[in-house]
Amino acid sequence: MILNTELEYKGNLFPSKIINYEKNINVLSFTADNGVVMQITVRRDSILRFRYTTTGIFENDFSYAITKYASRGYNHLEVEEETDAYIITTSKLICKVAKVDMRISLYDAIDNTLICEDELGFHWEENYANGGNVVKMSKTAQAGECYYGLGDKPVDNNLKGKRFENWVTDSYAYGRDTDPIYKSIPFYTALHNKKSYGIFFDNSFRSYFDFCHERRNITSFWAHGGEMNYYFIYGPEMSEVVTNYTDLTGKPHEMPALWALGYHQCKWSYYPESKVKEITSKFRALEIPCDAIYLDIDYMEGFRCFTWSKEYFPDPKRMVKELADDGFKTIVIIDPGIKIDMDYSVFKEGLDNDYFCKRADGPYMKGKVWPGECYFPDFTNPEVRDWWSDLFQELIEDIGVKGVWNDMNEPAVMDVPGKSFPDDVRHNYDGNYCSHRKAHNVYGMQMARATYQGLKKFSYPKRPFVITRAAYSGTQRYTSSWTGDNIATWDHLNIANLQAQRMAMSGFSFVGSDIGGFAEQPNGELYARWIQLGIFHPFCRTHSSGDHGDQEPWAFGDTITNVVKKFIELRYQLLPYLYTAFWRHVSDGIPILKSLVLYDQEDTQTHYRNDEFIFGEKILVCPVNAPNQKGRRMYFPYGRWYNLWTDEIVTGGQEMWVDADLDSMPIFVSEGAIIPKYPIQQYVGEKTIEELTLDVYYKLGKEASQVFEDAGDGYDYIKGRYSLRDFKLTGKEDELIIQQFKTGKYITTYKTFKLNLHGLPFKIKKIEVDNVEIPIKNLISTSNTLVLDKEFTELHIMA
Ligand code: GLC
Repeated sequence: MILNTELEYKGNLFPSKIINYEKNINVLSFTADNGVVMQITVRRDSILRFRYTTTGIFENDFSYAITKYASRGYNHLEVEEETDAYIITTSKLICKVAKVDMRISLYDAIDNTLICEDELGFHWEENYANGGNVVKMSKTAQAGECYYGLGDKPVDNNLKGKRFENWVTDSYAYGRDTDPIYKSIPFYTALHNKKSYGIFFDNSFRSYFDFCHERRNITSFWAHGGEMNYYFIYGPEMSEVVTNYTDLTGKPHEMPALWALGYHQCKWSYYPESKVKEITSKFRALEIPCDAIYLDIDYMEGFRCFTWSKEYFPDPKRMVKELADDGFKTIVIIDPGIKIDMDYSVFKEGLDNDYFCKRADGPYMKGKVWPGECYFPDFTNPEVRDWWSDLFQELIEDIGVKGVWNDMNEPAVMDVPGKSFPDDVRHNYDGNYCSHRKAHNVYGMQMARATYQGLKKFSYPKRPFVITRAAYSGTQRYTSSWTGDNIATWDHLNIANLQAQRMAMSGFSFVGSDIGGFAEQPNGELYARWIQLGIFHPFCRTHSSGDHGDQEPWAFGDTITNVVKKFIELRYQLLPYLYTAFWRHVSDGIPILKSLVLYDQEDTQTHYRNDEFIFGEKILVCPVNAPNQKGRRMYFPYGRWYNLWTDEIVTGGQEMWVDADLDSMPIFVSEGAIIPKYPIQQYVGEKTIEELTLDVYYKLGKEASQVFEDAGDGYDYIKGRYSLRDFKLTGKEDELIIQQFKTGKYITTYKTFKLNLHGLPFKIKKIEVDNVEIPIKNLISTSNTLVLDKEFTELHIMA
């Protein structure tokens, strides 16, 4: 029997003494006298990959997680042999391999601090039921070590003291501490002595992570099959660990279309067409911005994917066009289960071409989902992915649908024990044939990938939009995601906050929750507070199960409608700021949300914080997360922070009370920041942007800010048609200087800049734009607002 524990089972086996060492450029192989081989690949100065085999033969080296675009190369590599160890040195790391038992110790190459050390190191149990091994690793926890990451786990930020399982699972109405849920991201970041490293255990079998839970000072991870195969990623900055992990598993292949960052409205289900129109018209009538409307499963004919209900949606092309004319992008759900029905062309094609998953002895994998009994495409087969991607032609090219929502792709099956495929189901795994034990955690990822491939093909030259529920490491390359079927409770608002932060720290930023809760019904106050949080999540959508009443911005009375409208408007104003954060994410893997520990790992106060986070680079947010509050206490990290509503300044490094009645929430801007804003639009593209607002927050000293813009869709930005404004702010006692360096070939549509100068410590007497003094009448002195009607490179505002 395989126990879900690392040590209890007494059949653990260990490597023995090293008898052979070989080096092939950056691949180092160590053989023990009981046949165990350990391979260390130096990928970068700060990234080492460790692989072990107990048979002397490695598996075919294949991973869905690692991207071919990952950076490679190192500055320095040296291996020395000492009496009892081999010493591998790069410019960042020293790795000692003990000759007696292959145990590893890793040190910072600059100051020799011990970073991470094997306890038992690699060990294994034979897996009699399935063949192969249960592969295990244990490490000694260092004093004060903390742990973060691991995808969508609905728990506090710091994972210390807990054990987790990775097995993607449909988890309707999950709760705090439910484990596992929808995603499997076997990557964590650790922190001790102000230094941070990460471990990515790239093994898609059911796996476990234990952070000092089973044994007080031991961290371990293990999987029910496959190889012990992990990447050690050194910082020492946590932000470097996260960007390096993201580099390894991939950044999104393209920027999201700007509209995809707008507000999305969803429900299970809006139908028939008249209901959809009623909802979209109401958004426009109340002037609440919205860019996307979703069709859940009821738009189909008997839940058959790629069909439309003739009764509810008799003319989808016309409807989608009418919605588009009103600024709404239509997004439809597509699930993996294909209804068994010989008169249904998708089913017939799948059957004729042998694209459906089969059980070990040959029968098809049959299971019930919404349409009744279904077969399921094997998305781990590249030929099946190609076929699937072509199925989107009509939806996208002809009907004009703009995005696809992949659900139930854990895969979720209703009538089979375990609520997913049984272990014996066979998969292609891109030619590495295997059972569902190995393919389960990547199935949803490969479905989303195939969907992405289709959307990319047929949306071109526009950008694709996909959203998925299930994911494995690397899924962020193809799609956005949401956190699944949550509940309309205050604790779930907290959980959504934790999950969005944790996903961002796990390389997957484009994530949001079902705002207001999927199951059950929020009251107006909870809905409003959740919208306030949700507008600061990279993906922003209200969704609900639909059987408990309405969940649109106007469903809770005028007071709430006004609060919701105000915050969705704020999201639309901040679009250029959010888009810039996405650009940094897509080009450099920088997470869009930063938990405080990621923002300032040196401040131990941040190590256990959960609520506050940094949105983009400069905005500090803290949701009000309990009923009847008129404000809350929150922690301010290092720096000085302007209250967005009052301009009051708070000095970081302390916890403080912040007023925030229902129509407000604690939002702070870091001093020296320049925050770009667009005018409020009802949807992206409604207006030609004729003015860029820059909210400038005075600081004594220097600060840099950026604004990235482009056409908001399409691929021209890759060819250099983008506009990047690099701002340098210099604040003196009697002067504020703003320098601007503009790069890129895109010409922004606006001619006017409106600068709101916050916190200036002097009265303005003189203004110079590019060395020319301009009349002071350009200044609205009551608000310190300066309007400039042309581009500028250097601005001096003087006392
Ligand atoms: C699942 C999804 C949910 C969707 C429902 C019906 O529960 O998580 O978002 O509305 O199925 O398709």
